[in-house]
Amino acid sequence: MREFYYLCERRDGQAGFPLYVSHLRAVERPPVDFVYVRSIGTRHMSAFYREKVLAVRHWTDTLFSFRATRDTGFRFQNGQFAMIGLEIDGRPLLRAYSMASANHEEELEFFSIKVQDGPLTSRLQKIREGDIILVGRKATGTLIADNLIPGKRLLLLSTGTGLAPFASLIKDPEVYDRYETIVLVHGCRQVAELAYGEELVANLRDDELFGPLLADKLLYYPTVTREPFRNRGRITDLITSNQLFNDIDQAPLDLETDRIMMCGGPAMLEDLRKLFEARDFTEGSHSAPGHFVIEKAFVER
Ligand code: A2P
Repeated sequence: MREFYYLCERRDGQAGFPLYVSHLRAVERPPVDFVYVRSIGTRHMSAFYREKVLAVRHWTDTLFSFRATRDTGFRFQNGQFAMIGLEIDGRPLLRAYSMASANHEEELEFFSIKVQDGPLTSRLQKIREGDIILVGRKATGTLIADNLIPGKRLLLLSTGTGLAPFASLIKDPEVYDRYETIVLVHGCRQVAELAYGEELVANLRDDELFGPLLADKLLYYPTVTREPFRNRGRITDLITSNQLFNDIDQAPLDLETDRIMMCGGPAMLEDLRKLFEARDFTEGSHSAPGHFVIEKAFVER
């Protein structure tokens, strides 16, 4: 990526105030009080921010999370993802990661799997406090509130690290403004894999600002498929059988009121898409909001 530099001067003509502007988006619009003089060349700019790792937590043999510094110029909407990675032998090695932190937080947080022979995660899982990670400058993604038509109940359906974008969204006060009820469902094979989500929700319940919002509106439903737990079963089955809604004392699925975001494994997403489309729910996007939006949980290796 190239960075363009321009020379500007004070509008009042007073000498001594040349201003070198790296990003003059439209040449006809220099900063207030300055006038454009001429271009003074270009310079290569890294496509990445270099951020410092602040903390790493290992949750299971296959899951870890980490926090890093955040450049003040890095903007994103809650629920979006960016390219994250490491510099290996002078080259960037990157994968898409949803931000698990909210956009009002000073630091960045990510929730990742560990794959022992995965090109990135085999290395990333070894990061320590003080190490440098690369963060792509541009965030994007479909799991944003504006891609859904207005509704009353928001279902956030996730498996595994697909929880990450929802960790960000449940820290967004605007989401609580838009919906009367938010149901966060997290499905995993084993109970230990729920720990990150359990702690996240417990901390938010204790938070001065979010505590009352969560108490009023958030229903958290962790479920496990391969060992005993209070909630058991796949998300697809829990919806078709109505078990999910019965367990949380809520009305069944309703096209009029329910809006859905989902993130997780590809097979689950495909089955959920079929399930919702068979009930007349439509997929939303940036150009046309709908009843549900989908993002796969990216990091597989
Ligand atoms: P199961 O244990 O029955 O396969 P994974 O670790 O493979 O990504 O799975 C995470 C969770 O998603 C598991 O609880 C798994 O259930 C569930 N899952 C996998 N495939 C589907 C699917 N097609 N529909 C619903 N849930 C699924």
